[in-house]
Amino acid sequence: MTVAPALTLPGCVPSAKQQIVPIVQHEQLAQGTFRVRLECPEIASQAVPGQFVMIREPHRSDPMLGRPFALYDTYLDANGQPAGIDVVYLVVGKMTGLMSRWQVGDSAEIWGPLGNGFPAPPAGRLVLVAGGIGQTPFLAIAREALGQRKYGLPNRPVLNQPENVTLCYGVRSREYLAGLDDFSALGLNVRIATDNGSQGHHGYVTDLLREELNRSSHDTTVYCCGPEPMMHAVARMCEERNVCCFLSLETPMACGFGVCFSCVTKVRLPDATWDYRRVCVEGPIFRATDLFLERPA
Ligand SMILES: Cc1cc2nc3c(=O)[nH]c(=O)nc-3n(C[C@H](O)[C@H](O)[C@H](O)COP(=O)(O)OP(=O)(O)OC[C@H]3O[C@@H](n4cnc5c(N)ncnc54)[C@H](O)[C@@H]3O)c2cc1C
Ligand code: FES
Repeated sequence: MTVAPALTLPGCVPSAKQQIVPIVQHEQLAQGTFRVRLECPEIASQAVPGQFVMIREPHRSDPMLGRPFALYDTYLDANGQPAGIDVVYLVVGKMTGLMSRWQVGDSAEIWGPLGNGFPAPPAGRLVLVAGGIGQTPFLAIAREALGQRKYGLPNRPVLNQPENVTLCYGVRSREYLAGLDDFSALGLNVRIATDNGSQGHHGYVTDLLREELNRSSHDTTVYCCGPEPMMHAVARMCEERNVCCFLSLETPMACGFGVCFSCVTKVRLPDATWDYRRVCVEGPIFRATDLFLERPA
């Protein structure tokens, strides 16, 4: 199958494209977790780490709506140009269940790249905190932070590369660890936590972050993605130590490009009032201190 012509989306994201594209690789990485490779050069060449795409099965009305998935990484053609994207997903329901049965040569409907993406990697120390399938936005940002790949059209500049990049990655048990080889191959510092102690630290990933911040919180930036209670705990820990923290929200979405308002989250405004922001357009990455987060009782 060849890549169908890309259509421009209406509304808020004129640079995003909608396309039916070939599935060129599909493999299982961990329990219930798969990586699918989609050939989509136009989307891949524009995408930056932390952005996402919406995916659905073409020519099918159930499920009707697409589902959001983070850019895991781009892959390159023989000339070193972006040829497509990888998405890593955990099977949780209807759409991801269907996706797990996709074969190489099938096609997928995608639109993107969507959302704001992470800020370009900062100077100093960058700590990536992932809970469960929340590791997916971090491969590309780690690669960019380490100067191993550029993203965006034109490529976005990384003015000061971080001196140190650490991934703290927590899952229920070792069977759910996905993409460890990909992260290890980059040469960053990878720390694992499992709830049941089957690999790495026995306990929560927040324990690892606390150790990292106790070692030094000076000049540290935290990027975090995972279940909400974990992100809230990370945000509080960073706020207490005055550490800059960005959260990647995984709010369910219907359109992904700003027209349905199904994805709003409450944000603080500079004048101490609040308003809603669409996670698909103004997010999914937010500065933690801009969000209304649950406080412990
Ligand atoms: C910006 C963004 C990036 C994402 N990136 C990834 C990714 O890289 N890999 C990945 O596996 N998943 C990712 N997700 C989550 C993914 O979109 C959902 O897992 C997916 O929509 C589930 O679709 P489904 O049809 O299989 O499940 P459904 O049949 O729609 O739902 C099954 C169950 O999951 C719950 N559910 C569905 N979506 C969410 C959600 N977002 N948060 C909490 N519970 C939910 C439902 O309430 C229901 O109980 C991301 C979400 C967002 C917003
Ligand atoms: S998902 Fe439709 S506006 Fe965000």
